[in-house]
Amino acid sequence: MCGIAGYVGKDIVLPILIGALERLEYRGYDSAGVALIEDKKLIVEKRKGKIRELVKSLWGRNYGAKIGIGHTRWATHGKPTNENAHPHTDEKREFAVVHNGIIENYLELKEELLKEGVKFRSDTDTEVIAHLIARNYKGDLLEAVLDTVKKLKGAFAFAVITVHEPNRVVGVKNGSPLIVGIGEGENFLASDIPAILPYTKRIIVLDDGEIADITPQSVNVYNFNGEPISKDVMITPWDLVSAEKGGFKHFMLKEIYEQPKAVNDTIKGFLSTEDTIPFKLKDFRRVVIIACGTSYHAGLVGKYWIESFTGVPTEVVYASEFKYADIPISDKDLVIGISQSGETIDTKFALQFAKEKGAFTVGLVNVVGSAIDRESDFALYTHAGPEIGVAATKTFTAQLTVLYALAVRESGDRDNLIRLLEKVPSLMEITLNSSEEVEKVSDKYLKRKNFLYLGRYLNYPIALEGALKLKEISYIHAEGYPAGEMKHGPIALIDENMPTVLVAPQDRVYEKMLSNLEEILARKGTVVSVGLKGDKVLKEKSADFMEIPKVDEPITPFITVVPLQLFAYFIASKLGLDVDQPRNLAKTVTVE
Ligand code: AGP
Repeated sequence: MCGIAGYVGKDIVLPILIGALERLEYRGYDSAGVALIEDKKLIVEKRKGKIRELVKSLWGRNYGAKIGIGHTRWATHGKPTNENAHPHTDEKREFAVVHNGIIENYLELKEELLKEGVKFRSDTDTEVIAHLIARNYKGDLLEAVLDTVKKLKGAFAFAVITVHEPNRVVGVKNGSPLIVGIGEGENFLASDIPAILPYTKRIIVLDDGEIADITPQSVNVYNFNGEPISKDVMITPWDLVSAEKGGFKHFMLKEIYEQPKAVNDTIKGFLSTEDTIPFKLKDFRRVVIIACGTSYHAGLVGKYWIESFTGVPTEVVYASEFKYADIPISDKDLVIGISQSGETIDTKFALQFAKEKGAFTVGLVNVVGSAIDRESDFALYTHAGPEIGVAATKTFTAQLTVLYALAVRESGDRDNLIRLLEKVPSLMEITLNSSEEVEKVSDKYLKRKNFLYLGRYLNYPIALEGALKLKEISYIHAEGYPAGEMKHGPIALIDENMPTVLVAPQDRVYEKMLSNLEEILARKGTVVSVGLKGDKVLKEKSADFMEIPKVDEPITPFITVVPLQLFAYFIASKLGLDVDQPRNLAKTVTVE
């Protein structure tokens, strides 16, 4: 949901900002812009479209500016146009602002400003910030920002520069993420860590209600009352290589291939900190998992594991539904919020709500220092490294890893079950080695308009996840269903035009899946199946068969999902679509 970046220091700012925005582009990509200060003048360039459009418009211009801010947008207020692109400025073009999030009372503020005769150039909520700061400015940018934030409502982060103080960037965090990168004679602001990885690993994670005031030599943090705050400097374990494509055509493909490492690192991370986990699932009357999208699907798999290995009843609820559904929550409940980014606002709000009700809250995140990490009573981590592709892949299997390890920790057979988990990375490698087979299968389905995905028990959530991957990156309609429900409705859709992807490893529901297969064939449907190596029945009866190695039932979801990720990837890639930045989506959804 928009990426923001800021720099002040010893080097020419434009290439630094463009690089940072490219690494933030996954957060939004319908327009982009920069504001620089050169010779006490503000230079603003912004363009509808991707960052490459901005780069084209800047081609041949050699700015020497060493201070600037930049933005990549996911539109909320106002269509993606050049006018609505950030940065936004005040009327005299002395102040420039880039913003992420929503100013909920912007209409009210805009009315007041209009009455005072202010002329607006855009339809955005952001523009009010620029006008307000300009009006509040009495010679000190920090003071003007402090006066302004008191008037703003909503969840937001923004950065501002002014020609009056060409050595200073001020950043505000209140609900949307913002970090400070600490360099040598230079300092940075950004929505996320990958933006600044080429320059520094030293990071300050701002909390809500904080303002960072940066110059080339100093970083000072204040609360909204202007009182200084002392902050810890964190060293990020992420490196630049992990935030680049490394020879792959797309981040998504690279990230699919990184799964053995992501799972391996997450197993190691979990086992090395297992003893510090301050709770047992069995101490609670119930576990409630809240999450969105792919993280929700991981939660659904986690439910089966938790119930089967610990006997603790587990519910999985969409975070966006949780706080509106009157779900009884008390201190007898353990609430786990799963979020790759740790910033998804629905999940964050749901966890806050659960905490207010007295539940013990646990965040399962990939981004250390993210809001959910810091706001939960306890945090568990996936160690997948940065995930840039909008479609989540490696973070999904890393989330499964933690949920599995957490559940088996309380089973009588913990050691054997962990040994099983430790086989996952090599089983994934074997599966990935057959990617050419999946590619060949995908070639046959490029023109299909609808798909049904079926799975049962542990692989029902995998059917949902396979369908989500296909729809979000290929724009092909795909419906995931519990296979047993097919006869209660979706079977009416089956005909020769509607392929069904059947996730059918040889587990406790295998025979039932074969019955589904027969029912589909009897209605002239086409079946693409995912099954175990050597499964002659499935292979013979399916139009296409995507083979995975032999795998024990509890760990099947880790492996069955891999061909489905690849299948979606190859279809989208062959259709020439923007796999890493599919239309209308953003990697991190920080609006309700
Ligand atoms: C996954 O492919 C999607 N892009 C999306 O559903 C995502 O999983 C969801 O927005 C949740 O994000 P989070 O894990 O960062 O909270």
